[in-house]
Amino acid sequence: MTGYLITVEGPDGSGKSTQAHLLADHLGALYTREPGGTELGEKLRDMVLDPNGEGLSDRAEALMIAAARAQHVEEVVRPAIEQGKNVVSDRFIESSVAYQGHGRGLGPEEIFDISIFATQSLKADLIVLIDVDAPLAANRRGKNLDRIEKAGDDFHSRVMSAYREMASEDPERWIVVDGSGTVAEVSERVIDQVQVRLGKYEKD
Ligand code: TYD
Repeated sequence: MTGYLITVEGPDGSGKSTQAHLLADHLGALYTREPGGTELGEKLRDMVLDPNGEGLSDRAEALMIAAARAQHVEEVVRPAIEQGKNVVSDRFIESSVAYQGHGRGLGPEEIFDISIFATQSLKADLIVLIDVDAPLAANRRGKNLDRIEKAGDDFHSRVMSAYREMASEDPERWIVVDGSGTVAEVSERVIDQVQVRLGKYEKD
């Protein structure tokens, strides 16, 4: 039996990385992240998020993230799930659709297609959205912002709307969790809902 690929999504400042770690620990799953998860991916991440990298074009950004994803799937994610291990990825395809497709305005379909090329059609089995409103997210983001966190309020509100839209269009695959409250409260919501879904979901 192959393992599950569970991804955790949300806007910057949603607390999603903390929740992804806690979920992976709870499930005994492999935690990994995007962009990153491999040596190449971490180098690309540094370049994409460099707060001084103002000259990077939107299309170059999208392709660098896709390149990181291709390497991540081939080197880390696919081998793990093929060995029956569950994987929790802190961001995956839907980050690109939300940030590059909607946030940057490059088009959700085009960006989805580039990701699918990168992953050789591997998609998440389950996607957890940590849903927070804009003021809470901005507050949690703090002051030391990376290149994408600096993109502005309109950009971040397009990202959040895109996530909510994707989740409402595919409720079988998405779990939407209220991201307000303490780390422990949110984590309990995430773990409870994932357990319910995995219980219902039999993989070949
Ligand atoms: P994030 O996962 O929020 O890490 P941290 O918690 O350390 O800030 O940072 C990754 C950033 O990369 C985030 O701003 C979203 C962006 N990103 C995209 O724009 N597209 C993508 O496909 C991915 C995976 C990330």
